[in-house]
Order: sequence, then structure tokens, then C-alpha cells
Amino acid sequence: MFPQKYNIMRKIFFPVLLSFLLPFTALAGEGMWLPFLIGQLNEADMQALGMKMSAEDIYSVNKGSLKDAIVHFNGGCTSSIISPQGLLLTNHHCGFSAIQSHSTLQNNYLQDGFWAKKQSDELRNDHLVATFIDRIEDVTQEILAGVTDKMTTKQRQNKIAQNIKAFKKAYAKKKYEEILIKPFFKGNQYILFVTITYTDVRLVGAPPSAIGKFGADTDNWEWPRHSGDFSLFRIYANKDNLPADYSPDNQPLRPKHYLPVSLDGVETGDFTLVYGFPGRTDEYLPSFAVKQIQDVIDPARIEIRDHALKIMDKAMRADPAIRLQYASKYARIANYWKKWIGERTGLKKTHAVAKKEKIEAEFIQKLAQKPQLAQKYGDLLDEMDGKYQEIEFLAVYREYFHELFFRNIEIFKPANSLRRFLAKANQENYQPLASDTKKSLERFYKDYQVGVDREVFKSLMQLFTDNVCTAYFPDYLLANRYLEGYDTEQMATEFYDKSIFAHPEKLYQLIDEKKTDEIKKDPTYRLFVDIIDAYRTKLTPEYNGIKAPLDSMQRQYMAALMEVLPEKKFYPDANGTMRVSYGQVEGYQPKDGVQYLPKTYLSGVIAKYVPGDYEFDLPQRLLDLYEAKDYGRYAENGRLPVNFLGSNHTTGGNSGSPVIDAYGNIIGLNFDRVWEGTMSDLNYDRSICRNIMVDIRYVIWIMDKYAGAQRLVDEIKFVHPKAGQKSRKPWDEKHPKKKKRRHRWW
Ligand code: ARG
Ligand code: GLU
Repeated sequence: MFPQKYNIMRKIFFPVLLSFLLPFTALAGEGMWLPFLIGQLNEADMQALGMKMSAEDIYSVNKGSLKDAIVHFNGGCTSSIISPQGLLLTNHHCGFSAIQSHSTLQNNYLQDGFWAKKQSDELRNDHLVATFIDRIEDVTQEILAGVTDKMTTKQRQNKIAQNIKAFKKAYAKKKYEEILIKPFFKGNQYILFVTITYTDVRLVGAPPSAIGKFGADTDNWEWPRHSGDFSLFRIYANKDNLPADYSPDNQPLRPKHYLPVSLDGVETGDFTLVYGFPGRTDEYLPSFAVKQIQDVIDPARIEIRDHALKIMDKAMRADPAIRLQYASKYARIANYWKKWIGERTGLKKTHAVAKKEKIEAEFIQKLAQKPQLAQKYGDLLDEMDGKYQEIEFLAVYREYFHELFFRNIEIFKPANSLRRFLAKANQENYQPLASDTKKSLERFYKDYQVGVDREVFKSLMQLFTDNVCTAYFPDYLLANRYLEGYDTEQMATEFYDKSIFAHPEKLYQLIDEKKTDEIKKDPTYRLFVDIIDAYRTKLTPEYNGIKAPLDSMQRQYMAALMEVLPEKKFYPDANGTMRVSYGQVEGYQPKDGVQYLPKTYLSGVIAKYVPGDYEFDLPQRLLDLYEAKDYGRYAENGRLPVNFLGSNHTTGGNSGSPVIDAYGNIIGLNFDRVWEGTMSDLNYDRSICRNIMVDIRYVIWIMDKYAGAQRLVDEIKFVHPKAGQKSRKPWDEKHPKKKKRRHRWW
């Protein structure tokens, strides 16, 4: 247990904040809410939906609460603590890189799964961290002190940066705590998060990919779904239960709270709460910005990735070694490629642009009735519209830079490592830096196929030269006239065949022999240096010249919306901070005349089975268990539940989020959204936005019956809240029941 002594709860609800957030009528479904404001904003709504907990049970600074079982997993995903010994549950796709890093063709944990037989078999991961949120506070007043409407963007930024710095310096925190201050509502509000990060996180278990990733990219973002997308880790701590880097002496974390597992299952209409770290949404963009994403930005991104993916797919299908090397990279690129396609479809299907236009019309109409506000905000939308038109081609260009040079074409990654290394290296630090750089290069080359990348390069350079004007091209390309009647094969000869980056052994040798001049002469190195230069000196200043005023208009527009349409409900956009979403178990109508049920079963997994297929194959053991109908206590009327749907508002980053029932027990594991519903990042629509979850009974069944991981199952606390069995919280034992609780659910 942490030696916790909380600061007296600071004044949280400043009048400023209240005027922003009230009043609004929250409906189930839409919204990603700040846990510390739930008591004010959502509790009644949640209870009306069937929740039996109080806001204090969800977030408390005074006692253990659900919050203490929710863990940011390596900064990108969510996970939750499901045992008193720090057992951490997240998605298979969140643990993927860790599982892959321990896999070889001989010991292929990705393919065969991995189950640590005993604690000492749990596998160390040097680059994996797990972060808890200790407390959340509103610091708007402190951070915006001295900021005025008259300031320029630059002055405002400087003042805020100065305030943040001073605040951090003065803030009393423990040695092992960190503080994070983030803007909300486009910079109208600032919230502080005090975090505690553990760095010894070990791999405990993972099903074979055929279960964890069943359906792979074909099924990704789609319903009906049949995936066992989970993996297990464990947080280790030092003898004081505090964060410490890996040591054989570290012990499993003793958490402040862990989630009991409900074996009662879910039914349509059941209350669901998703607790996690949603990454990014943009719910308050004006109509023309949404239209730009739908018609210009998304199509550009999709086209680029289309090209890269086709080439990778072909190589992966032809060679199992390449399949293993490229599995993680391919999945990452395919994931958002498919998401953007779904996003466009959903935006069009729900007439998102027209919907936003309607809000704008209402906004303008209301403004007209309030002369003071009209004076302040009257021209805002027109001005923003102008800026969006101005920025459009630069925004597309930026996508090209990011997608080509920092993501899809791989050879620039080692070039970038070398560029950073050479910029930092001097007489004294050369050796240690060189050794770090070589380590990271080795990790890169382990999964690199120059032949595949060379094809991607050719294909994408063709697209680049065809689709965007030369004004911002890197000098190296311009000077060498690569773009006149560009011959991509000739370019590939120079930037691959003649480059040391296609020959790692040679590269390592040059590093060892300190032949830095030779590295700097490499054509690919020089090209990349010029790419960075073009990006920084040509594109970015121009882009930022429009983006900065646009951001400040967006901030004003946000404030204006809240002021002018106070009856609308506003919740802050996702920004990687801790949030609660809630809704119900429910299906939806993907199209007229078609109704999707909210639950799938093992029989559906078997129905999709294609022996030998790389997406739909299944392990023999699963087939045998199905034949034997060996479902034990995890069955539901003779069937084994697999996945279910809900109306919780989630986004990327919510992967691995626990799905919690009305009483505070875990019932599922969030891992995806339905395809057309992915536009919820820009425009949530209750009719088609659904999140997809693994039924917790499928997870435990796999651990128990499939993997025989009894020692892990034994750590977990099982409850039957629906059957009337009380799910006592671990904190109850330490904090005896108070008489005057508003909601008694034990
Ligand atoms: N779409 C889910 C998410 O955004 C799952 C991605 C991983 N699975 C996959 N087949 N690529 O993360
Ligand atoms: N799979 C996503 C993730 O990694 C969650 C799905 C979504 O975007 O909602 O966070």
C-alpha cells in the first residue's frame, strides 16, 4: 500500500469551471467525462441507467476507488488491475510488441501463445511502463492567471508556459510522483494529473494470435466480432511497493484497488462503464473542417496507405519469416487505414456536415439575439472558414510528409537514428551513444526487409511526385533532378542499393570506426537531412502561420459555443487523459432492415474458421474444447459468450479499458468500435456508434480451460452480483461501512 497522505482536497470547482460545464442534459452514450467531475455532472444520469455505485466509488482521493485499478499502459493503451498481486489485463494488440519482442521462429509466442508457469517465468520488458493516476485537480485559475483576451497567441502561450513552470516548481509532490498539466476545451481550461509510473512490467500470459487476433484485419473495426483480444502482464514494485526499474528482488505490486470479475454476464440494457485513457477526438470542429477531413484529408491518407499495404501484404503472404517481421507494422498501418475509410462512410451516412451546419445556424441565430456576444464572436465562423481553405493543401502536404517519411517508408528510420546520433556525438560521449544507437538499429533491422521497403519507396515516391507540387520538396531531390521525368527505379538504386542503410553490417562498421564523414555522404542520409530541412524550414512555418491563429479561433469558438448554447452538453475532447464513458449493452441497425444483436458466441468463432488461413485459423485445442462443449462456469445457456457491443463513447487509447458493471466489477475488455461508428471521433451518433468488447468470461475461460493457467485464475476474485451475491470491495474491509451512504449495494 502506498504511504498516502493526501493534501487537503484543493478547491476544485471554481466558478469559471462551473460556468463552462453547466447546465447540460447528458444522455447515455456520448461523452468522455473527467472522473473527478462525475459527482457534479453524471452521477444522476448514470444511476438512472442502472448504476448502483456512487461517484465516490468511481473516483475518490480519500479512499481506494475504481480509479486506482485503471492503468495507462505504456502511454498508448489502457489496462486494469484484476488481482491483489498486480495482475494487469489489457488487449492482445496492446501487448503485441512485447509479445513479439520475446518471440522467435523457434519460440513463437505470437503464434503459440505464452503462459508463465510460475512467477519467475514472467518475462521482463525494458521499455514498458504502467501509469496510475493518483489525483486530478482543476488548475485553470493558476494556469490562466494574468492571461487576457488582448494578448497575441504568442504572448498567451508564453504566459501559460511560465505559469505552468512556476506551478510545477511550487507543487508539493512525492519523489515518485510526476505531474502532468493538460489543456481542456481547446485551452479554455487546465487540469492537473498527478501520476505514478511503474517501470517493471512483466509479460504473464497471452493467447495465440489465432485467438487474440482472430479475424485480424478482415474483421478489424467490424461486427459481428469473435476475437479474444487480451493479454496479461504484472506490475512489480520495490519492497516499499513503489516504482523501481527491473530487479529480481522486486515483488508483485500490492494495488490500492483491483477489479473483481463478474461471472454473471451481460444482457441488452445492462449498464456499462468504460474507464480508460482515450487518445484524441475533435468533437467541436466546424462543419467545413469536418468536410475537409471527409473529402480531402482522409482520402489522401487512405490512398498512401493503400499502396504501402498492398506491397507488404504480398510479401507477408509469400514468406512466413516476413509475416512475423511485418505482423506488428502491418497491423498498425492497416488499422488506421481502415478506420479512416469507416470514418468517411459514417460521416456521410449520418450527414455529419449538415448536422454541424445546423448547430452553426443555431449558434448564429442565438448570437443575433445577444448583441454583446455577436460583437465578440460574429465573424468567427467566417474567419475560420477562410483559414481552413488556406490551410488545406498544406495540411495534405503534411500528411504526405508524415506518412511517407516518418511512417511508411522505413529506410528513413535508421537514417533518422544516425542523424540524431551524429548531432549529439562528441569526443567524450561517442562510445556510449554509439552503443545505444546500435542497439536501437539492431531492433529495427531485426524486422526489416529491404526488398519490401524498396518497393514501398518506389510506389510512394511516385504518388508524392504525382500528387503534390514541388514547392516544398527536399533540396536533394530538386538538385539532383530526380523529379524530372522521375524514374523511381533509378531513385531506388541510389537510395537503396547504394546506401549503407540497406547494409547494416557496413553501417555498424562505419559507426565503430568513427567514419562519420562517410555516413554523412550517404545519399539516403543526405536525402533525409534535406527532408527534415524542407519540413522544418519550408512547410512547417507556413503551416503554423495559419494553424496558430486557427487554434486560437478554435478556442474562442469552443468558449463561444458553451456560452451561446448553454443547453447543449459539452464534454472535453479526448487528450490521452483519464476518462469515464458510460452506456448500455446494445446492438444497432447497420442499415435499413438489418439488426445487429449485441452478443457473439464461440459457435460464431467456429463458423468463421478457415484451416491454414492467416486470419481465420484456429488452434486444435480450441476446436477440441468446442467439440466437448467444455465451458464450465463460463457458459450461458450452453453457449460460450465471446464479444459484445455497447453504446459507450470510446476512441483509440481505450483499448484494454475494463468494462465495468453497475456494481464495480469487470464484465469485459474494450478493444474496438464498429466501422461506421469510428466517426464518433468527430461526430458521435447514438444510432450507429458502438464499442466492441471481449466478454470477461471468454478471457477467463481461455486462461482456465484453454491454457490451464490455474495459478492465475486463483488470484482473481469472482463475484455474482446479479445473483445477489455481494461483491465486497477490498476497501470495504479497511473502511467499515458508513451508515449514511446514499447507495448501498453490498
Ligand atoms: N481497431 C482496434 C484499435 O484501433 C484494434 C487494432 C488491432 N487489431 C488489428 N487487427 N490491427 O486498436
Ligand atoms: N483499438 C483501439 C485502441 O487501440 C480502440 C478502438 C477505438 O479506436 O475505439 O485503442
